Amino acid sequence: MKKNILLFTITLFILSCKPSGNRGITTEKAMVVSAREEASKIGVGILQKGGNAFDAMVATELALAVAYPYAGNIGGGGFMVYRKNNGEIGALDYREKAPLAASKDMYLDENNAVIKGKSTLGAMAVGVPGTVAGVFAVHRKFGTLSIEEILAPVIELARRGVVVTMKQEKRIAKFQASFLQANKDSILFNNAWKEKDTIKYIALAETLSRIQKNGRDEFYKGETAKRLVKFMQENGGIITLEDLEKYEPKWRDPITFTYDDLKIISMSPPSSGGICLSQIMNAIEPFNLNELGHNSAKSIQVITEAERRAYADRSFFLGDPDFVSIPQKELITKAYSKKRMSNFSFEKATLSSEVSHGNVEIVESDETTHYSIVDQFGNAVSVTTTINGGYGSKLYSSELGFFLNNEMDDFSSKPGVPNMFGLLGAKANEIAPEKRMLSSMTPTIVEKNGNLFMVVGTPGGSTIITSVLQTILNVHEFDMSMQDAVNAPRFHHQWMPDVIKMEPNSFSDTVKSELIKLNYHLDESNSTVIGKVAAILVLENGQLEGGADKRGDDAAVGF
Ligand code: DON
Repeated sequence: MKKNILLFTITLFILSCKPSGNRGITTEKAMVVSAREEASKIGVGILQKGGNAFDAMVATELALAVAYPYAGNIGGGGFMVYRKNNGEIGALDYREKAPLAASKDMYLDENNAVIKGKSTLGAMAVGVPGTVAGVFAVHRKFGTLSIEEILAPVIELARRGVVVTMKQEKRIAKFQASFLQANKDSILFNNAWKEKDTIKYIALAETLSRIQKNGRDEFYKGETAKRLVKFMQENGGIITLEDLEKYEPKWRDPITFTYDDLKIISMSPPSSGGICLSQIMNAIEPFNLNELGHNSAKSIQVITEAERRAYADRSFFLGDPDFVSIPQKELITKAYSKKRMSNFSFEKATLSSEVSHGNVEIVESDETTHYSIVDQFGNAVSVTTTINGGYGSKLYSSELGFFLNNEMDDFSSKPGVPNMFGLLGAKANEIAPEKRMLSSMTPTIVEKNGNLFMVVGTPGGSTIITSVLQTILNVHEFDMSMQDAVNAPRFHHQWMPDVIKMEPNSFSDTVKSELIKLNYHLDESNSTVIGKVAAILVLENGQLEGGADKRGDDAAVGF
């Protein structure tokens, strides 16, 4: 928070005249920022045809399933937060859910130990997919163009094929062994794909054509459903036709809170994103970050301590709100965060072992990808979608042309045993039939003075929340352009393990040694990338600036 209002006003005035750093791509009216240029272009094409942000959402989501199989999907799920041009806000939960035959101890052996790989690789790791239901729900409520028209360019892209990038070549090479381990036969991705090759997605084009023709039910009841269930069963999975038939996406109220003059609108449970983001921002609001300096030891300290406390709460309190009661109202109050930060001191690190969840009177009563869209009418859509790990469970239906998620690993297989993101969970996030697994996905929209200001989100597992946080702070507190805010080096703390993960070679030796002196443990090793943000900023002159992360093949496209 900027305490000196005069300085704040002057800074803002200078900022508005002379933006700091490098601006990303700017456009006049509309923009889509996503993990692949092909997908952003398809989304923008829909807008140019007169479609709105919601039509473009359907097109971009499915185009990513073609152009970015690493995370884009029809075998996974996601969350959407929207803000219409009239200020109306809302959210859609199309998260996967546990199959009916799932049970609390399904990943434990006879000695009660977690069976390595069972929740991450192959058919047992798969949650009931929500993506197709999600896009159809969005279309039914807000769409203006026909599904046929929206899916046409996506199917054409799948047939024409997508060019392999250098980053993609490396990713495909990295997962060769796991593809062979998870599948009975070699798959399309076992070919030795090289940069500049074109991969044609013919099977996926067929599946998408059937969906185009027969609608949502094709995936949940029709031919595709039957083939999918047969495939799952042949591979030792437990998803049945009944699971698919019963799948429903859910409209939810987003989490809203203020930070200085900003109003943040973010995803509610079963994602932990909005609640954690609000707890962290409430905790740091009383500090003058701008004065402390961007990525200075003191700023990193304040943010780390706020993150530590919020993630401890996440692990204890949060889960699927349809199954557990979450003290949401209390957790997101400024007073609660103040109390949580009362034992913070700049003198030394708080140990995570000494931090547990907060005391809340319980009142009865969330490899991934993000894209951001602003349309020519002023509607905004923020969507994070995932199959969890890179290429999900690695299980790929060659007949249907897509990977299945390994989202079941987002549940807590056993209290005290970390999942693939090192996150701990408790009763609130234990497995139950038809329950949704807790997510960290944080699709977010920010308003300033009642107007649309920013659309932001990212993949990155547990680091999603803290990457969204730093991107907002980089613009609001540190006066960066959208592109600079996205590119700036990031760090992350999640309570347990008690380490500050830092992007390697990005923080000065002075800052690092100051933190080490204060008893912080730094880890620059196992986290080469923290987040891959796709964001849009509305500039003072009404133009849109894209923030397409340099860490990926991301692209901002618009007009
Ligand atoms: O929902 C979640 O929080 C995770 N399944 C997200 C996974 C993810 O971001 C992977 N990307 N690096």
